[in-house]
Amino acid sequence: MANKVTLTQFIIEQQRGLPDASGTFSLLLNNIVTACKKISHLVNRGNLVGVLGSAGSENVQGEVQKKLDIITNDIMVDALNWTGHLAGMASEEVDDIITIPEQYPKGKYLALFDPLDGSSNIDVNLAVGTIFSILRCREGVDPAPEDFLRKGVEQVCAGFVLYGPSTMMVLTTGHGVNGFTLDQDIGEFILTHPNMKIPEETSEFAINMSNQRFWEPPVQRYIDECLQGTEGPREKNFNMRWIASLVAEVYRILTRGGVFLYPLDLRDPAKPGKLRIMYEANPMAFIIEQAGGACSTGRERVLDIKPTGIHQRVPLVLGSKNEVERIVAYHLEG
Ligand code: AHG
Ligand code: MN
Ligand code: MN
Repeated sequence: MANKVTLTQFIIEQQRGLPDASGTFSLLLNNIVTACKKISHLVNRGNLVGVLGSAGSENVQGEVQKKLDIITNDIMVDALNWTGHLAGMASEEVDDIITIPEQYPKGKYLALFDPLDGSSNIDVNLAVGTIFSILRCREGVDPAPEDFLRKGVEQVCAGFVLYGPSTMMVLTTGHGVNGFTLDQDIGEFILTHPNMKIPEETSEFAINMSNQRFWEPPVQRYIDECLQGTEGPREKNFNMRWIASLVAEVYRILTRGGVFLYPLDLRDPAKPGKLRIMYEANPMAFIIEQAGGACSTGRERVLDIKPTGIHQRVPLVLGSKNEVERIVAYHLEG
């Protein structure tokens, strides 16, 4: 045990190095960690505790909610609303912003989360995750929805937990990216993947090919060139993966490189892309950039977008830098 660094120790030591550290942030993160441990336990128990299947309701985005979408949302809210560290929250599963109950003090941070990412995977026993993003809020104010609509570059922390064969947390506070594995025996996340870096070059892409007919020409061109392999302009063969869980795709890219696309989709003009900026694209963009990768809509850096709605969707292209830059160049040429 001697040299194992726990997530708590890591965060406290990292905060010590910062000039205005009050310890509040470490405590907030600890509450998120507690919530994610509970979610990990439930996901692992599955139908032994009756949590699989549909809830029979829809969220604000018209998506059918799984029982676990609702349960995990409640776990996150209940773990965070009483702490005194938050001024408000926003969740994929809740239409409006989530206010702090009157009886609790309000703090200086805002938490945004996707409590269960990849929830279509849950009933088929594949990887799911939780994504979160922390913003600073003016202290003592009752935040309005506009107070949440801040560019991704303003995030103070972003992370995700992957509930896979191991439960892992990946975290950035703007000083690189670190990965922690949940040691089930002692109930602690242990630093196992320090300073994660994405290889610049890759020959692996991830995209939902069933949407091909709805893609724009630059994406058609990029994927077509990959598929041509050694006989095409890329002069090498590509491999393809699609897990249908952003958390799992990003984790794979962090460990062995690759590029992920959920591009602009011409199916429905009201939905430019599928993924939501505030609690999916922005936290992943922060992590990916901190690990040396890049993240774009195809036309602009995700972290520079000024959001206009809590549940706003964006096209998303992320991963190994050279591939993302190539895809952006194709968009700019077109
Ligand atoms: P969520 O379960 O939070 O709604 O997110 C699912 C997302 C993302 O994780 C994944 O990359 C994508 O949806 C998969 O979409 P398709 O089912 O269209 O492939
Ligand atoms: Mn999601
Ligand atoms: Mn979700």
